[in-house]
Amino acid sequence: MAQENTLTITDNRTHKSYAIPIEHETIRAMDLRQIKTKPDDLGMMTYDPAFMNTASCRSSITFIDGDRGILRYRGYPIEVLAEHCTFLEVAYLLIFGNLPTETELKKWVGEVTHHTMLHETTKKFMEGFRHNAHPMGMLVSTLAALSTIYPEAKNIHDPANRLHQIIRLIAKIPSIAAMTYRHSLGFPYVYPDNDLGYAENFMNMLWKMVEPKYLANPVLARALDILFILHADHEQNCSASTMRAVGSAHTDPFLTTAAAAAALAGPLHGGANEEVLKMLDEIGSKDNVSAYIKKIKDGHGKLMGFGHRVYKNYDPRAKIIKWTAEQVFEVTGRNTKLDIALELERIALEDEYFIKRKLYPNVDFYSGIIYQAMGFKPEMFTVLFAIPRTAGWLAQWQEMLTDPEHKIARPRQVWTGPEVREFVPLAKRAAVAATR
Ligand code: CMC
Repeated sequence: MAQENTLTITDNRTHKSYAIPIEHETIRAMDLRQIKTKPDDLGMMTYDPAFMNTASCRSSITFIDGDRGILRYRGYPIEVLAEHCTFLEVAYLLIFGNLPTETELKKWVGEVTHHTMLHETTKKFMEGFRHNAHPMGMLVSTLAALSTIYPEAKNIHDPANRLHQIIRLIAKIPSIAAMTYRHSLGFPYVYPDNDLGYAENFMNMLWKMVEPKYLANPVLARALDILFILHADHEQNCSASTMRAVGSAHTDPFLTTAAAAAALAGPLHGGANEEVLKMLDEIGSKDNVSAYIKKIKDGHGKLMGFGHRVYKNYDPRAKIIKWTAEQVFEVTGRNTKLDIALELERIALEDEYFIKRKLYPNVDFYSGIIYQAMGFKPEMFTVLFAIPRTAGWLAQWQEMLTDPEHKIARPRQVWTGPEVREFVPLAKRAAVAATR
């Protein structure tokens, strides 16, 4: 009888059976390699485009149960962290695995605060971009450029050096983000202010004009901090997987983070928040919502901010964002786009098409409405996502590097091309091409 906790696979080509060990409800793909028809076969592989059912790592950072709408960082429910913590406390939790004590938090906040300055050459670099450059393009390039300023970051195997770069990245990303914003407006860059908290300082670098000291509205600063907490990590999504894949080549953390931010920029990932606003603009009014949903159901585009690879239930972050929106609107006044969004959500959640496919609002559905009410242009939304996600990327990067099983990421392929072909000299290729 086969051992418990194994999976028996019978190869009907050879009639051989194999007992494959199961651990954490998972089998190791490499255990399939023993399934061969001939001794010189490579062995059986799995085919999984888009990694729909492949675990690429073991992780203890972020837990998602998509069917039940659960999100936890290091075991703590997102709702509890959003209510009781600051973003920097959560960043500490992601990086170190536990919530900080008062002493640890003080040290951590002090370290991050003292690394918010950018090298002066960053300004010159930023000035090279056109006035209408997309802020995500500027952010990605500037992150990569930091690798030239901190060449010692290459020493990724030294834990102290690694932590130093992690602090630098978490500290400097708001400064870069603010620079991209000021650049697009043609305003002079603002230096960080060490008296201020993480979100307040970011707001200072965004919006300070000639006043001697920028004082952020506390409700808006807290709302931004909550949004940062909600966006800090989301397990093995496209950008986190990019971070791990690029980092697995032992590339330095600045270049690696730039790669992850590039993945985030796509409209199917972090770029969706910008697309939601464009969509709400296109819809224009509550009365046009039904017609827009019909268009989507007829196969013309997607409802941006809806659907998720993992959540097949309400995204828990979207619930907190809806609540945060109410707080923000008490200060800024109501963003009229909210009415269109609420109507869109109401109709979609009652519609057979969306019910059948388990499509619910995701984190990007309401975040843009808040950002717009705060005064951000849609082009800045994904940059606002990248700021807190940097902490998550770095936690994933560090976990990958310290995993004894880690190796350079290198998927296989199923070859669908031709067998060996006969070389055709250039002069004869037109004749061959004509026969294709
Ligand atoms: N609007 C309309 N139909 C949709 C949507 C949508 N937003 N999302 C999925 N579907 C349909 C899709 O057409 C497919 O239908 P059918 O079975 O008839 O072919 C079905 O639902 C399954 O969709 P899928 O594309 O196979 O699902 P996926 O897991 O590959 O894609 C997704 C997930 C998030 C890329 C997708 O839902 C999407 O494109 N949503 C809109 C973009 C968006 O809001 N992205 C932000 C994701 S959350 C934050 C983040 O990751 O950054």
